[in-house]
Amino acid sequence: MIRRMPTAGTPLSFGETVGGVLGFAEREKVIADFRSVLRNFLEVENLSVVNSGTTAFFILLQLFKQLRSSENRDEVILPAYTAPSLLLPIQAAGLKARLIDIDSSTFNMDVKKLPSVVSERTLAVMPIHMFGLPCKVEPIIALAKNHGFFVVEDAASSLGTTIDGKQTGTIAPFGFYSLNRGKNISTMAGGIIVWKDKRLSQKIENLVTDLETLPPHAQAIMTLKMIGLSLAVRPIFYSLLSPIISKFKYTTLHTHFDSFRFTTMQAGLGKKLWKHADDLTKRRQENGESLTKIFKNKDGFTIPSIPITALVAFNQFPVIVHDLNRRKMLVYRLLAQGIETTFLYEKPLHHIFPELNPGGDAFPNATYLAEHLLLIPPHTQISQTIIKNIRNVVESI
Ligand SMILES: Cc1ncc(COP(=O)(O)O)c(C=O)c1O
Repeated sequence: MIRRMPTAGTPLSFGETVGGVLGFAEREKVIADFRSVLRNFLEVENLSVVNSGTTAFFILLQLFKQLRSSENRDEVILPAYTAPSLLLPIQAAGLKARLIDIDSSTFNMDVKKLPSVVSERTLAVMPIHMFGLPCKVEPIIALAKNHGFFVVEDAASSLGTTIDGKQTGTIAPFGFYSLNRGKNISTMAGGIIVWKDKRLSQKIENLVTDLETLPPHAQAIMTLKMIGLSLAVRPIFYSLLSPIISKFKYTTLHTHFDSFRFTTMQAGLGKKLWKHADDLTKRRQENGESLTKIFKNKDGFTIPSIPITALVAFNQFPVIVHDLNRRKMLVYRLLAQGIETTFLYEKPLHHIFPELNPGGDAFPNATYLAEHLLLIPPHTQISQTIIKNIRNVVESI
């Protein structure tokens, strides 16, 4: 039987799983300890944790509403290719999304287009470090000085990616991360908020402590799920269980999000996990470098250009496959080797939500990316032998 590699997921060791189980019975202090571990890792002073990246973003949007100079500022600018679920907190905060095309060479927001899109209605601009790839943030911060909008980095998928030695997510005045399943480091679910201005700490802490605590039975279920999932992503179990596991994968559009406080179980698990956060990050960087060598300058494929000062902790390795038949063949042949790939979002935001399309196909680069993308897993279970198999498959088509 060919061992099957999941698209995402790092198996938890016995010690980490026990850390989570013990955390379930611990007091709030374990959360404070975990926050300080994260502060050291990200080299930031101000940081809080909540139940998801979506909630982290929602809290920041609520903060921006408290701080805004005028109620007319109600637009949040984000790239047209990204996670559709990001629209939920924008809507929940009573705000409007405004899209901007992506740059087909970086796969991220086309920052050059921003000056023609920002206006006196812009409340915030959100560069998103998609797949772990660093988006240029400095020009946006410079623009914000003249236009008075907030800049928030979505580093949900880029935990561990650095540029010029700085962690993505910590360059702009605000940022957030996701610790959800499938993210670079995962505590089952979770979100981290970071901000630079200490004077805002009380306001942010108030918004976080206003969140409800997850009831004990729900915390117990999460702990059981953590144990189940830590086993399920091991290739041996995954190969046997993949028909069942695939039923639990998100395939439909989210229509709702819950907001809760971070739990002690997650903090207990996170504290253990972070003992080798540097190794987990390095493996993603190395696998990304190996995959880059396979696809670089290869006819029919485009991979993102990466600034030389960046170290990319790839969440997924993105490749544009220009010929869709070739993409189909690649998916099929990789799967025959036990390597699962994904297309992730097969449509850009303005196709999923036509009301965000100002006319025609306003964001063609985002559309092309969504329709031609293939994501190859770079996670820590992908060994050099598997990379060699990927190379052989790519050479064969
Ligand atoms: C780019 C991006 N931002 C935000 C989120 C939301 O994070 P969470 O799943 O923790 O709510 C995701 C999740 O997939 C994401 O990919």
